[in-house]
Amino acid sequence: MALLSLLLAMVSLVHVELAMGLPLIYNTTSGPVAGKLNVHLVAHTHDDVGWLKTVDQYYSGTNNSIQNVAVHLILDTVVAALQEDPNRKFIYVEQAFFQRWWREQTPRKQNIVKQLVNAGQLEFINGGWCMHDEATTHYIDMIDQTTLGHKYIKDQFGKVPRCGWQIDPFGHSAVQGYLLGAELGFNGMFFARIDYQDKLKRLNESTMEMVWQASRTFGDSAQIFTGAFYDFYYPPDGFNFDFESFDTPIQDDPLLFDFNVQERVEDFVTYAETQASHFRTNHIMWTLGGDFQYQNAHGWFKQLDKFINWVNKDGRVNTFYSTPSIYTDAKFAANESWPLKQDDFFPYADCPHCYWTGYFTSRPALKSYVRLLSNYFMMARQLEFFVRRRSNGPNTDTLWDAVAVSQHHDAVSGTEKQHTANDYALRLSIAFSEAEQLVNLALGCLVERANNSICQHAGISFSQCPLLNLSFCPASESINNFNGSLVVLAYNALGWSRTEYIRIPVNSKFVQVTDSAGVAVPAQLLPVSSITKELRRKYVQGYLGISSGAAPAYWLTFPATIPALGYRTYTVSTSEKKGYTSASTSEVLPQKTAVTVGPSSLKMDFSENGLLSAIIDTDTGTNVSMQASYFYYEGHTGSDGQGVDGAYLFRPTANSASFFNTFANVTIVTGPLVHEVWQEFAPWIYQVNRLYKGKDYAELEYVIGAIPIEDDVGKDVIIRFTSSVGSDTSFYTDSNGRDFIKRIRDYRTDWKLEVNEPVAGNYYPVILECI
Ligand SMILES: *[C@@H]1O[C@H](CO)[C@@H](O)[C@H](O)[C@H]1NC(C)=O
Ligand SMILES: *[C@@H]1O[C@H](CO)[C@@H](O)[C@H](O)[C@H]1NC(C)=O
Ligand SMILES: *[C@@H]1O[C@H](CO)[C@@H](O)[C@H](O)[C@H]1NC(C)=O
Ligand SMILES: *[C@@H]1O[C@H](CO)[C@@H](O)[C@H](O)[C@H]1NC(C)=O
Ligand SMILES: *[C@@H]1O[C@H](CO)[C@@H](O)[C@H](O)[C@H]1NC(C)=O
Ligand SMILES: *[C@@H]1O[C@H](CO)[C@@H](O)[C@H](O)[C@H]1NC(C)=O
Ligand SMILES: *[C@@H]1O[C@H](CO)[C@@H](O)[C@H](O)[C@H]1NC(C)=O
Ligand SMILES: *[C@@H]1O[C@H](CO)[C@@H](O)[C@H](O)[C@H]1NC(C)=O
Ligand SMILES: *[C@@H]1O[C@H](CO)[C@@H](O)[C@H](O)[C@H]1NC(C)=O
Repeated sequence: MALLSLLLAMVSLVHVELAMGLPLIYNTTSGPVAGKLNVHLVAHTHDDVGWLKTVDQYYSGTNNSIQNVAVHLILDTVVAALQEDPNRKFIYVEQAFFQRWWREQTPRKQNIVKQLVNAGQLEFINGGWCMHDEATTHYIDMIDQTTLGHKYIKDQFGKVPRCGWQIDPFGHSAVQGYLLGAELGFNGMFFARIDYQDKLKRLNESTMEMVWQASRTFGDSAQIFTGAFYDFYYPPDGFNFDFESFDTPIQDDPLLFDFNVQERVEDFVTYAETQASHFRTNHIMWTLGGDFQYQNAHGWFKQLDKFINWVNKDGRVNTFYSTPSIYTDAKFAANESWPLKQDDFFPYADCPHCYWTGYFTSRPALKSYVRLLSNYFMMARQLEFFVRRRSNGPNTDTLWDAVAVSQHHDAVSGTEKQHTANDYALRLSIAFSEAEQLVNLALGCLVERANNSICQHAGISFSQCPLLNLSFCPASESINNFNGSLVVLAYNALGWSRTEYIRIPVNSKFVQVTDSAGVAVPAQLLPVSSITKELRRKYVQGYLGISSGAAPAYWLTFPATIPALGYRTYTVSTSEKKGYTSASTSEVLPQKTAVTVGPSSLKMDFSENGLLSAIIDTDTGTNVSMQASYFYYEGHTGSDGQGVDGAYLFRPTANSASFFNTFANVTIVTGPLVHEVWQEFAPWIYQVNRLYKGKDYAELEYVIGAIPIEDDVGKDVIIRFTSSVGSDTSFYTDSNGRDFIKRIRDYRTDWKLEVNEPVAGNYYPVILECI
């Protein structure tokens, strides 16, 4: 007791004379003060859910020679540091990590954390499973991964995050702004990465903070207060106190050399006042943290305590522990008007030759796998609901987790290291296997119309064919000329009825397809291309080690009309009996002359050289000249010290692209339902152009690789469509598979663009649907 009063006495002494004594208790009790510049100190860590290491390696601290990180230490030390002073605050973002940590805690520790959360000392910000990418994600996946994180926060703490924190993703989509503002009801959202030219203008005009109306459809009913950071998401220069990059600390013990309270307070005030001159209202935010920081939280908090104490004592500016949502509340309270932002923040460039448009297509196989399994997840979840969720037995939880992890901005974006990419694919594949069992059981129960809540085993056992893309499907291939009948079930996870062409490999040409009422369905047999046979041999036999015999003789295709959230069954059987309608065969012709293909009103013209020449709609009499061919840009090595073409940036050495070939080897397949033109542009570039009866679009499917690099030249391969459409310089791209956004070549709505990269600066993300 005596000791305590002695210390307090020393503290009050310090109030009087700055340099007289060492305060052993710092006064961190502070909040916003009217009429002063208020510096909100936001202590944070940015924890990538996989990047240079896998998500589990980051969590546990294995493979530390790659990056010295163990996320569990961050949460251990932050919780301990928060307990030391009720004024300290910290925000945590990535639930994939938090949940790994939470599982390991004793009930006692969990209670402590609950108290910290209730007291507002620990606040969950963003709160999704990861901080998702915004260019290459589908909006449904953005919602699902955010929901997964929020669900845990709600279950464990009864809280709902109220602020967005997309600090690291490489550009920002309109759908992101729309979802946070309209669907989640967040009060604000913050990020670091906007175009460097945009940023200069915004700093100049104090428009770094704005009201973002991201959706053309929803207008001002979907707006959100949005802030771009003054200086990235790291601490201001000179104020980094993480254990590995420690800047000059406050040395406030007059008995030691290098006492520096005045200098450090001066640095603080100067930086704050400069920053404030670019922002509206007398509130500014400092982001105190960075990638995987706070593994030793004590070092950080000790310095922040000192700054709060000494800066407030100095009195020119006022500073305190805060969070992004507290900061946003202060902005709202200020009754300030904000500039309006529409559309999105793509593409992102951080220097004249650094356009982050390369990752739109990096690791395309992983991107496609993620999309495929996110569609599968949607279907599996619906079936799980129909047959009731089981406490034991297969469920969709693993798939939810795997799909959510893969939305991280170094996962589906393709910017992670190879072993991390393998880890994402492995997680997806394990999760698929579990969901596959659930789906098989559920479909069996549904088809048998069993009492779904008690259906444990279905008499009908379905098998699925995830490698249909390689013509591998043992169930349908077993149908031969002599026996066989196969029930094909098609499920539609969308909320509207659809007609899609089903395609399965078969080994008989005497097949027919009937619907569930026994009525014959039109069907067509197509040949299997040599490239498909080759891929099948390579992957199914060579890689998976499944000796599946020879490639199938045919593809069988037929239209299936499936109701919303429902299914239809079709029977495929072999029959040589009279009176049965067999599937039509196809005519195959190697192309020698110009040809028009298409079973319906939509047609494509190909010229003698095998290249597309026109798209025609005979209903409307439209005939649009159109060429399509493959080119490549040579990737810049960054030898000039500027951007390097690679996983992140697209930076061609020249602004014109080289042609691969002025012709393509072509095979033409026709029949009553589908016409195909197979093009071989090079021995490693294949494309199938497909036109279906009754469909008003053409389907293009390509296989590209391995890209030849024996000449030591990195190549960015593109397909270029050249048409007579008078679009001037305008075009439209989607935002995460939702609203369309108008783009104009070499133009930005928000500032006068200085064009330094006429090619890379005109690329925008497009989300392909994978059905
Ligand atoms: C601590 O600082 C706050 C605000 O700056 C002030 O109101 C309070 O009186 C101070 N407490 C002590 C013990 O000095
Ligand atoms: C560590 O990372 C390397 C890739 O750099 C990987 O090959 C290795 O398997 C990793 N080790 C562990 C234990 O995962
Ligand atoms: C900054 O704003 C001033 C006018 O306030 C203008 O004259 C100047 O050109 C602007 N600079 C930039 C880089 O936009
Ligand atoms: C907010 O600002 C508007 C106009 O700028 C003014 O009319 C209004 O009275 C202000 N409200 C408050 C609470 O200050
Ligand atoms: C289905 O099974 C559940 C559980 O045994 C039972 O409560 C329910 O009445 C059954 N429903 C029908 C339609 O038989
Ligand atoms: C076929 O699908 C599998 C699984 O989705 C994938 O791993 C493989 O890359 C695909 N192959 C081709 C040629 O599309
Ligand atoms: C059809 O016959 C083949 C062998 O000729 C056999 O492997 C297959 O299981 C049979 N399928 C059915 C459905 O009977
Ligand atoms: C489309 O127009 C081109 C050029 O006029 C012509 O050669 C071609 O035959 C037309 N195609 C069709 C299907 O009418
Ligand atoms: C076209 O086919 C010929 C003969 O098979 C082959 O030599 C040539 O490489 C092919 N050309 C292209 C562009 O694939």
